[in-house]
Amino acid sequence: LPAKRFYHEKVIDHYENPRNVGSLDKKNINVGTGLVGAPACGDVMKLQILVDDNGKIQEVKFKTFGCGSAIASSSYVTEHIKGMSVLDAGKIKNTEIAKELSLPPVKLHCSMLAEDAIKSAIKDWESKSALRGKKFVQAE
Ligand code: FES
Ligand code: FES
Repeated sequence: LPAKRFYHEKVIDHYENPRNVGSLDKKNINVGTGLVGAPACGDVMKLQILVDDNGKIQEVKFKTFGCGSAIASSSYVTEHIKGMSVLDAGKIKNTEIAKELSLPPVKLHCSMLAEDAIKSAIKDWESKSALRGKKFVQAE
């Protein structure tokens, strides 16, 4: 596969064996769903988090309609944010993801999709706080 010459083995690994692919129940009040698109290419990523009463991310699932780097970025972040607090997960920068996967500059927006998807999932989860009767404040 010629792609192997251009991509870091971590990207290939996450692309060939993506972790945490799937969906969580959108109607669960403890689940936040993020759905984002990349204006640069039209790719789409859905990322969902299940958060416990202490604001800790218990479960993460994703589905990506996109390139190998987008799939690898989302697979990587689902593993990375599991067990994290929503506050910490909300601070993850796409540059960290790109660095971890050694993405080339032209593929930076693919990791941006992952950052946006986490933020969007947390926002959705926060918007359900009234339903849960608890409010967590997210640092911008
Ligand atoms: Fe996104 Fe081709 S347009 S991978
Ligand atoms: Fe668009 Fe990768 S090329 S997300």
